[in-house]
Amino acid sequence: MKRRILITGGAGFIGSHVVRRFVKNYPAYKIVNLDKLTYAGNLENLSEVEGSPNYSFVKGDVLDGAFVKSVMVNEGIDSIIHLAAESHVDRSLETPADFAVTNVVGTLTLLHSAREVWKSALDGKLFYHISTDEVYGSLGATGLFTEESPMDPRSPYSASKAGSDHFVSAFSHSYGFPAIISRCSNNYGPNHFPEKLIPLMIHNIIQGKPLPVYGKGENVRDWLYVEDHASAIDTIFHSGRPGEVYNIGGNNEWKNIDLVHLLCQVMDQKMKRTPGTAEQLITFVKDRPGHDLRYAIDSSKLKRELGWSPSVDFPTGLKKTVNWYFDNKEWLEHVTSGAYRQYYDRMYSNR
Ligand code: NAD
Ligand code: DAU
Repeated sequence: MKRRILITGGAGFIGSHVVRRFVKNYPAYKIVNLDKLTYAGNLENLSEVEGSPNYSFVKGDVLDGAFVKSVMVNEGIDSIIHLAAESHVDRSLETPADFAVTNVVGTLTLLHSAREVWKSALDGKLFYHISTDEVYGSLGATGLFTEESPMDPRSPYSASKAGSDHFVSAFSHSYGFPAIISRCSNNYGPNHFPEKLIPLMIHNIIQGKPLPVYGKGENVRDWLYVEDHASAIDTIFHSGRPGEVYNIGGNNEWKNIDLVHLLCQVMDQKMKRTPGTAEQLITFVKDRPGHDLRYAIDSSKLKRELGWSPSVDFPTGLKKTVNWYFDNKEWLEHVTSGAYRQYYDRMYSNR
């Protein structure tokens, strides 16, 4: 079946991998990327697919229901993969209301718009919401989050994502609206904005700047290579059951401090320097307020029901990531200097 898919937030980190995957693997589909191009949206992530006949970009805000509806009608959209969000926990501690607006009201606006456009027939329609393991809160030393774990968000970011999940479930229950939610652990890989742990550390090592480890570095995250997340999204989009929630994880837990040590080793190797050089930059700084101790995902439902499992092991994924940042120094320069924000004007001003 041919699909006409609206991907929101497709210029961001994960969204750009999902857009590239769908544009390349499904030439018969139409992929429409709707993105507001906030500081996190970077069209340079998508230069590879820009001219593809089955792809188009529209600059727009998920909060603008009239605009969303016009795009859906004009493009004949039958499915939505919703990634647009404010995604950084530290920013959410500074400006929590922005997170409520974009993540909660934005998702609700998108749901409401889709329901209106699709009201005559919900058959063959799908609203796929991309969420996070952070909605489950924080774990102690043992245990895993399952799809049945209660929601217990503890940062403004995770509270806003939990709020958006609740609205998606409410639409499924109240209106029989065909929606799926997936909740993934920490992603890493190419195109990751250097405000997040791994790309920030890579950038600072290149620059010889301190490596700020929050608290004692004892917090644990479960890391998944971003292309594995995109492959899980592909699997769930095509085979997932409406009304269901699927956890996605890497089965790959790392204490922050151990991860930073490993990354320092990979960087020293890459930069042909004496082992131990990068580690000298490690600096312990004030902890993140309310810092969640540990996330770890049980993704056995996704494996059992849909046959998905991750394919990239961590040492390989980390090396691929480091190589990507070295091969794409211009991308990093543009992001850190802000030059990437002119890309839209340059590429789209006369379209
Ligand atoms: P990101 O911050 O890199 O990208 C977000 C994108 O959304 C950007 O392109 C931005 O311009 C766009 N956007 C923001 N507000 C918008 C609006 N109002 N209208 C239209 N577009 C808007 O985020 P990411 O890390 O790629 O995360 C994508 C999604 O996956 C988010 O929903 C996030 O909660 C979820 N998620 C992320 C991770 C992770 O590790 N990064 C893990 C699990 C789930
Ligand atoms: O678990 C999924 C979530 O992972 C996603 O939903 C979020 O969108 C994504 O940003 C990510 O959230 P985290 O807060 O876990 O990611 P971050 O990269 O910000 O931090 C990872 C860990 O590293 C966390 O324990 C905080 C710590 N950290 C982070 C930064 C930026 C540091 O010690 N130093 C830093 O400079």
